[in-house]
Amino acid sequence: MIKSIILAAGKGTRMKSDMPKVLHSIFDKPLIGYVLDSVCKTGSISENFVIVGHQAELVEKYIHENYKQSTCIKQEPQLGTGHAVSMVIPYLKDYTGNVIILCGDTPLITSDTLKKFLQFHEEKKSDITVMSAVFDNPQNYGRIVRNADDTVNSIVEEKDADEIQKTIKEINAGIYCINWSKVQSAFSDLKNNNAQGEYYLTDIIKWGNEQHLCVNAYTLTDNNEIYGINSRANLAEAAKLLNKRSLDKLMASGVTIVDPASTWISPETEIDTDTIIYPSCYINGKNKIGRHCKIGPFAHLRGDVILEDYVKIGNFVEVKKTTIKSHTNACHLTYLGDSEIGTNVNIGAGTITANYNPLTKVKSKTIIKDNVKIGSNSVLVAPVTIEEGANVGAVGVITKSIPAWALAITRAPLRIIENWVTRNK
Ligand code: UD1
Ligand code: CA
Repeated sequence: MIKSIILAAGKGTRMKSDMPKVLHSIFDKPLIGYVLDSVCKTGSISENFVIVGHQAELVEKYIHENYKQSTCIKQEPQLGTGHAVSMVIPYLKDYTGNVIILCGDTPLITSDTLKKFLQFHEEKKSDITVMSAVFDNPQNYGRIVRNADDTVNSIVEEKDADEIQKTIKEINAGIYCINWSKVQSAFSDLKNNNAQGEYYLTDIIKWGNEQHLCVNAYTLTDNNEIYGINSRANLAEAAKLLNKRSLDKLMASGVTIVDPASTWISPETEIDTDTIIYPSCYINGKNKIGRHCKIGPFAHLRGDVILEDYVKIGNFVEVKKTTIKSHTNACHLTYLGDSEIGTNVNIGAGTITANYNPLTKVKSKTIIKDNVKIGSNSVLVAPVTIEEGANVGAVGVITKSIPAWALAITRAPLRIIENWVTRNK
């Protein structure tokens, strides 16, 4: 097992935000959450260190609530990436294993790539491994300078590079694996006599060569994985890339997505074969959808939704924290939240589960058993149970539980007053 260090102290000026950059979200999950999830999913990490600085409290709060194996360390002031990593030294005084270092603003990195990267580090018996990528336009990245034997000599930042170095297309992706006991002392040797006046983490490469350590680069195959977020435009682009990855995976596994361009499905949504997703759906959070379901067009699943097979969720239907058994339909204009819905149920157009009491701020459950029919425009005021086979007449306002096979009607009887119009003209 190894340790990870995630750099997340930078300001993210170009986001123009009052929130720290790494807490901006894709599918409601903060950027740093994606990085930590990929790191943890390698199965090789025993502890994460997150370097925080700008609005440290907010980042710390998110990390503490969501990632138990993690320690936040404050870097103040922020004197560069090398200085950031050196904050961990007091915590790893006697540690002798490997450390993987990543940035908190590259959410598209996958655990598969990280696994291969760590494996490469082991196989090469490397002391320092840096992840690299080849870009047609390498602008703004640090350039990888290789030795004649293909090991890495140094990394030169764009701002410090000469004209020849600037033509190098192999760049530093900003992910490193280092043998901590051998490299730890590099951090006290770093100098900030460079164009940015910072202590560069990248200078450990040159230092490693001077110490005759083994320094290698692992070249990435999919450059999108290191796409970094610096602006709102980058955030939108990363979301698009992540969504495409999710849609491609679903389609490859047997899900029909009629219009990928207008469909959003979070990576944490599982969908079984032969389900059809019609255009303009937004499926967020963690969900599990069975086989032969039909979703949309214009459906919104907000997370914690479990649909068994042959379920239909139609247009303008919003579903949250709800389980629906097979062959049940909610085809039009409906909100289902905090609900448990049985098999073979029909939810009429315009049905609402009123699950939230704004005075007590309490959410309650609606339970709808098998074979129930809910008439159009009904409001089910939770907590409430509709027992098996019961029918709710259209425009029902259901405030107490309905017994099995009963009919519940709450509307005023229809009156017809003959010639009312002519008399009142
Ligand atoms: C860095 C690399 C560059 C590489 C690029 C990849 C250095 C010197 N350069 O450049 O070779 O191509 O990443 O994206 O490392 N951070 C801190 N504390 C600090 C400074 C930065 O935590 O004092 C964090 C930032 O929040 C960010 C990460 O480190 O998450 C990278 O810092 P940034 O200034 O963006 O580095 P680059 O200039 O992009
Ligand atoms: Ca910088």
